Amino acid sequence: MVIAVDGPTASGKGTIARALARHYGLPHLDTGLLYRAVGHQCAKVGGNPDDPDDALAATTFADALLENPDLRSEETGGLASRVSVHPAVRQALFERQRAFATQAGGAVLDGRDIGTVIAPEAVAKLFVTASVKARAERRFLEMQARGAPVTLDEIEADLAARDERDRSRAAAPLVAAPDAAVLDNSDLCAEASIAAAIALVEARR
Ligand code: C5P
Repeated sequence: MVIAVDGPTASGKGTIARALARHYGLPHLDTGLLYRAVGHQCAKVGGNPDDPDDALAATTFADALLENPDLRSEETGGLASRVSVHPAVRQALFERQRAFATQAGGAVLDGRDIGTVIAPEAVAKLFVTASVKARAERRFLEMQARGAPVTLDEIEADLAARDERDRSRAAAPLVAAPDAAVLDNSDLCAEASIAAAIALVEARR
């Protein structure tokens, strides 16, 4: 069984994908980490993330980078969003994601284009979303816990800018697949959101 979990930044799709993977005993791939690794590598070597050639050169990042906690920062998320607009970058990361999605026994993948591009055949597709306000508040609490010096306003502005870039790009924009179940968890706690996700998957498999 392949489960595709897509949605905007800080929608809780990562938490849901991890919980689904545990529930069904499936391996999980957070595809945002791949784009974050490219963005991080590009900046590290002094490349311009908006330049398609610089961004493509960074897709040869070392796998060790995926374990780097730096990748979770807002700054790296912004770099990821910039390198991910280039079709050549998306193409370079395609096979790796496709191989994960087609492994025997199934998998859970989360990202922006899993249900539309990476695994359009997935039996269960979820599009997880929440209001900008709810997402900004969650991300703010997360960042505060990590001691990151950010304000709620900064996070809200950054989320809105990232959403806009992800939704308006030509290559694999952030959009719910026509056959995806939409889960708006603005008013749900993590546990309730996970329970709703499991119920939606159960209804589809
Ligand atoms: O999900 P996460 O915040 O880690 O993703 C970082 C950025 O990577 C997103 O803002 C998006 O631009 C890009 N991304 C993508 N396609 C995916 C996963 C992430 O374009 N499948």
